Amino acid sequence: MKKDQKKDLRDYRPATKAVRVGQLRGEEGEHSEPIYTTSSFVFDSADQAAARFSYEEEGNVYSRFTNPTVRVFEERLAALEGADACVGTASGMAAMLAVCMTALNSGDHIVAARSIFGASQIMLSGLLSKFGIDTTFVELTDLDAWKSAMQPDTRLVFFETPTNPLMEIGDIAAISELAHSYNPDILVVVDNCFCTPILQQPLSLGADVVLHSATKFIDGQGRCVGGAVVGGAELVGKKVMAFMRTAGPSMSPFNAWTFAKGLETLPLRINQACDNAQILAEHLMSVEQVSKVYYPGLPTHSQYELANSQQSRGGAVVSFEVKGGREAAWNVINNTELLSITANLGDTRTTITHPFTTTHARWSDEAKAEVGISEGLVRIAVGLEDPQDVIEDLLF
Ligand SMILES: Cc1ncc(COP(=O)(O)O)c(C=O)c1O
Repeated sequence: MKKDQKKDLRDYRPATKAVRVGQLRGEEGEHSEPIYTTSSFVFDSADQAAARFSYEEEGNVYSRFTNPTVRVFEERLAALEGADACVGTASGMAAMLAVCMTALNSGDHIVAARSIFGASQIMLSGLLSKFGIDTTFVELTDLDAWKSAMQPDTRLVFFETPTNPLMEIGDIAAISELAHSYNPDILVVVDNCFCTPILQQPLSLGADVVLHSATKFIDGQGRCVGGAVVGGAELVGKKVMAFMRTAGPSMSPFNAWTFAKGLETLPLRINQACDNAQILAEHLMSVEQVSKVYYPGLPTHSQYELANSQQSRGGAVVSFEVKGGREAAWNVINNTELLSITANLGDTRTTITHPFTTTHARWSDEAKAEVGISEGLVRIAVGLEDPQDVIEDLLF
């Protein structure tokens, strides 16, 4: 192949994109990307400053809205999701807020899955409703419920798949098709935190926007909090970016550097974590004190075929029901020595948590019962230890 026929970096395979896209090299010729820890950028002249501020000239102005290190992360993640644009944010929740504030007006309506991350549910039902944006919550897997919840003022559809913590699967293609055929302007927003673009690319299945909590698998070592909005050039590249410029829930350069480095090893880490989670899930199926295992990589999962058709692996999160309710679940958690009792996930270290009293503690008991988050439920986010050591750390 001649030099002028060389491929665009975005046309390479995922593992190559993960380490190469967005690479930034300064005057020193450094191989690893530098971290630009600066709040503002200087201009050659007042004319240039004016041109930059008015977007007549491309270039950095102020790190609340553009920073070269944040740009590395954004370009790399956009390439992996197959998107034109990505905006880094201060957290996963800031990414959700940014997309809602950008796309919605008072009086607009959202349809969302009932089983979503606790804070996402509270943002929709508590925060946005204060500004006249109402949400109808539906059963993720009930396509008729999605259809009948659509209203003339519905502007946004939101779900995550697999869900936290019950690992239910939302049919991305079917929900996107249903929403767009009701109204092509409805934005279908998918939280892709559990799968990452290595296992699933929602945009290729018809979604319009992907959200990430980079805090999880993208960082991969539990060091930083951050998030991202990924999607089209007009909505994300221009409008979400304009929201960030005004409202400012921005990603710091140091965190962006950590996440950009995390993306480089993401394919390796997520695949190993999937191998380990599969071994753990299969083991839990044989434990007498466990009444149910929730893992999309098990043929016993009620949506095994759908999961297989839209995500390439089962993922790294396994939830299970311990016979004996809260006491029995807390015993399993308290008896661990190796596992970390923490609500974060996507770390090299396996974490264990009791969703009923942690991640979903702010939900009412009725809301938890409705989606199936019981007192006996335990969630394990599998890391990179030897899976046999994780199995041996679980005493029932
Ligand atoms: C599925 C999912 N989405 C979003 C978030 C929020 O991300 P962050 O904690 O980075 O704000 C979380 C956090 O646990 C999550 O699990």
